[in-house]
Amino acid sequence: MASKLFATKPLHVIMEEAQETGDHSLRRALGPVNLVTLGVGAIIGAGIFVLTGQAAATSAGPAIVVSFILSGIICAFSGLCYAEFASLIPIAGSAYTYGYATLGEIFAWIIGWDLILEYAFGAATVASGWSGYCVSFLDDLGIHVSPRWLATPGTPLVFYQGHWAPLDSLRESLAAGGVNSATLPHATGVFNLVACLAIAAATFILIVGIKESANFNSAVVILKVAIVLVFIAVAGAFVLRHPALASANWTPFIPPNTGRFGFFGLSGVARGAAVIFFAYIGFDAVSTAAQEARNPQKDMPVGIIGSLVICTFLYILVSGLLTAVVPYMDLNVADPVAIAIDATGVRWGSLLVKAGAVAGLGSVMLVMLLGQSRVFYSMSRDGLLPRWAGMIHPRFRTPWISSAVVGVCVAVFASLIPIGDLAVLVNIGTLLAFVIVCAGVWMLRRKRPDLPRPFRTPFVPVVPILGILTSLAAMLSLPAKTWWRLLIWLILGLLIYAFYGRRHSKVRHAAPQEASVK
Ligand code: ALA
Repeated sequence: MASKLFATKPLHVIMEEAQETGDHSLRRALGPVNLVTLGVGAIIGAGIFVLTGQAAATSAGPAIVVSFILSGIICAFSGLCYAEFASLIPIAGSAYTYGYATLGEIFAWIIGWDLILEYAFGAATVASGWSGYCVSFLDDLGIHVSPRWLATPGTPLVFYQGHWAPLDSLRESLAAGGVNSATLPHATGVFNLVACLAIAAATFILIVGIKESANFNSAVVILKVAIVLVFIAVAGAFVLRHPALASANWTPFIPPNTGRFGFFGLSGVARGAAVIFFAYIGFDAVSTAAQEARNPQKDMPVGIIGSLVICTFLYILVSGLLTAVVPYMDLNVADPVAIAIDATGVRWGSLLVKAGAVAGLGSVMLVMLLGQSRVFYSMSRDGLLPRWAGMIHPRFRTPWISSAVVGVCVAVFASLIPIGDLAVLVNIGTLLAFVIVCAGVWMLRRKRPDLPRPFRTPFVPVVPILGILTSLAAMLSLPAKTWWRLLIWLILGLLIYAFYGRRHSKVRHAAPQEASVK
């Protein structure tokens, strides 16, 4: 019985599923450019536009640039492993399916359940970041939304320097300015209605169709990258004109540790890397679209590695310039990139950045929600989730019921949980998936060296081992409460598996000789 927990899904069955065509299969509509844009669309989002400022202000200081380099290295190792799997097993389930093919059902379930943390909670995190930029943008246009509908329940908010902001994020600035918060207008958050509505809109687009989603995404990605480039150009020119100011802002480059792990110093750089890891998440989401790719063997590695490389360069530049233009302590705000461009004195810049962030974060939500519904689709086809989760709409050809259910749950998370708590939970869940994917590549090379691998991860087992070790190190840099939340989440998942998945699994109930990788 116990061995059935480790039953693997035969690769030939997975390959046959990947070849399916017809009204009840996903539509193969995506080419290499669509896949790279899908990746960039998923990657550039709340991480760079919101969390970079928070991580610089609270953990790493100007050395946030180093955090970005460290995090980029972790992603490179795992990205190479994802690329091998995505070209070898081009099916919608991503890490979930790779785990099923190599490590066995119980690991597949754990990854599938864990990916909910990445995709569903990731979409919620981005929706939360989106609401900050959206409201700031509307404010600039003279449209004021009541702050009570922008914050999670019970969050104390104050009105300071023309904006409503959570009191906690302002404590240092208020103390530095000698302002008593009790003298400021204040309000208390009810729930984040704006984030909730954003998820509803993204879910609607996804249900209507994958091709439409990809086209919308491509347009938004071009806009988003253009705005990041405008920021780099404007902030770069400012730094060249004011080298003394930039160098003062970068001094000390690594602010001294405050005496607690993760608050500046080297541990702060490590904590910063683990937090802004969120900014890189998304290249792996390309692999969930494998079943919708026209030529997955060739194009999956291009989509994964290509999007990761483009974003790494942009991030290093943006984070370096952000901290050069604005003192890092002032970046703990909902719209740090807009604040930085404002500081350069370019009047139109901030409005442009906000508009770009509003559109750009929208595309991230879309890809995250897409990834989540595709993972549910795969799990349901394997019998680990009920059949409705895999049902394809006959006209739209999308897994519409799972998209709708995911949309409702994500809207609830986004409106009730603060962005910082959401983001670290997403990170720990994603890092765990990376560990399992790296281990899977290594294991499959040993078990099935014969398989035709259109893309081969270089230097196996060195790259997978480094992927595992660096991901674990990043997980260890996250706060202890995040570990507890991960543990509770996994226990909840295992209970569902014990009472539902285990009984309905198709692989378990297949003929015994089929239930293993041969
Ligand atoms: N990398 C994505 C973001 O930063 C998830 O929003």
